[in-house]
Amino acid sequence: RRLLSVASECAPLLKTGGLADVVGALPSALAEQGWRSRVLMPAYPGILERVGSTKVVWEDPDLFGGPAVVRAGRHGGVELLLLDAPHLFDRPGGPYNVDGHDHLDNHVRFAALSWAGARIAIEGTADRWRPDVVHAHDWQAGLVPSYLHYAQADVPTVMTIHNIAFQGIFGPDQLDLLRLPTWDFHHEALEYHGLVSTLKAGMVHATKVTSVSPTYAQELTTPEFGFGLEGVAAARRDGGDLIGIVNGIDTTVWDPAADRAVVHYSVDDPAAKDRNRRELLAEFGLAEPAGPLAVVVTRLTHQKGVDLLLEALPGFVEAGGAVIVLGSGDPGYEYALNDLGARYSQSIGVRIGYDEPLSHRMYGGGDLVLVPSRFEPCGLTQLYGMRYGAIPVVASTGGLRDTVVDASPENLAADVATGFAFADIDAGGLAWALSRARELYADPPAWQRLRHRAMSTPVDWGPSAERYAALFAEIMR
Ligand code: ADP
Ligand code: GLC
Repeated sequence: RRLLSVASECAPLLKTGGLADVVGALPSALAEQGWRSRVLMPAYPGILERVGSTKVVWEDPDLFGGPAVVRAGRHGGVELLLLDAPHLFDRPGGPYNVDGHDHLDNHVRFAALSWAGARIAIEGTADRWRPDVVHAHDWQAGLVPSYLHYAQADVPTVMTIHNIAFQGIFGPDQLDLLRLPTWDFHHEALEYHGLVSTLKAGMVHATKVTSVSPTYAQELTTPEFGFGLEGVAAARRDGGDLIGIVNGIDTTVWDPAADRAVVHYSVDDPAAKDRNRRELLAEFGLAEPAGPLAVVVTRLTHQKGVDLLLEALPGFVEAGGAVIVLGSGDPGYEYALNDLGARYSQSIGVRIGYDEPLSHRMYGGGDLVLVPSRFEPCGLTQLYGMRYGAIPVVASTGGLRDTVVDASPENLAADVATGFAFADIDAGGLAWALSRARELYADPPAWQRLRHRAMSTPVDWGPSAERYAALFAEIMR
């Protein structure tokens, strides 16, 4: 069984967030379910060099303004189809922006990705491969189901929503250019408040829609979380076509007993975790705290509750905690965090930037990982934290709610607790959860029990890959 997965990023080749982790980890997990995947993504600068030898398997002499080919190759165990279209992807900056500004033609760039995906699904590749199902991720692949729909191709599709806040919006004057029919520009198809949203299009036209946790899949149907697409989400839910499947993590990459970035330890032999902690404190020049060392690895955005951290961290470190933050994003948050780090130079370390190895050292050395998100489709850092014995402190929302069991007295007594959750998503809620964490940390046997439970909780892809495989099988032609 063959799956074409279409996405804008794939770890370890190119990652700006959790989407890449998921797209990069699913193929091997699905392989165990009998599905062979190929991941179609853009050949951003440097990608072809890193992948090495490739073979052209598809071409289009004029893909929205220039020639394009798709090259097949392999990297990190993933079979890739790389869309090599220099007029769209060979340019400075990140995958979506340059110097903090979105590329102005992002709708064209990712429509091109989606077009290539749809054509490959219809025609197959030159190496005679055609998918049984197409899996489209987020707005960048949102037009795959639509292109297939308008081509009247009978290829089943799954549209996965990793974050409904990003919707791929552009003006209707672009429809022609993107080979979309103007006659279907109305609110039951391509139109979204006078504009076009590629995510909405995907949600309307896909055979099935999924999101990355059961709670978030439900939240999507509400005005609070749906970002204007709650009606579309609710309609798919009512048809039985909106499904929540929680993310797993790649436990071969994220394994404290094998990770090259940390001194190895495991749930049964956690002693070296302490050494990772000392080294991490030393790396940031922090004093040994009396209380727990918390880490934060995140995009610095409103979604992630960075302002809650800014408010709650002073109290936490004044009560004996320490914190290390790694992130990049809104310049205002970057500035405020640096400022906080300067004010509490003994207890708050801040690194602005993107640093994969440092993120591993932080999960390895941290006692807590903080995730105070306002909304969180799934979240992966709490899962990495659990695996590395950095106990998650999370807002009770979306996937955070589905993956962390609060350390309430009952849950502790039943030995099922894996972290600390707070329902009032504000600085007070976070401060309350942090004080509970400090209290439990002061009771070493209780803390070790909690850490043992968190580290031994299964967070691998197994069960969720099985659910995706069952869904693909259900819709296969
Ligand atoms: P999102 O995709 O919304 O950003 P997730 O929790 O699903 O949130 O995934 C974030 C991923 O990106 C995790 O793998 C996390 O470790 C990583 N990450 C986020 N910011 C950084 C950073 N500054 N440096 C290294 N890794 C980061
Ligand atoms: C998005 C979400 C995050 C999720 C990730 C992978 O970036 O914000 O919650 O874990 O996608 O699905």
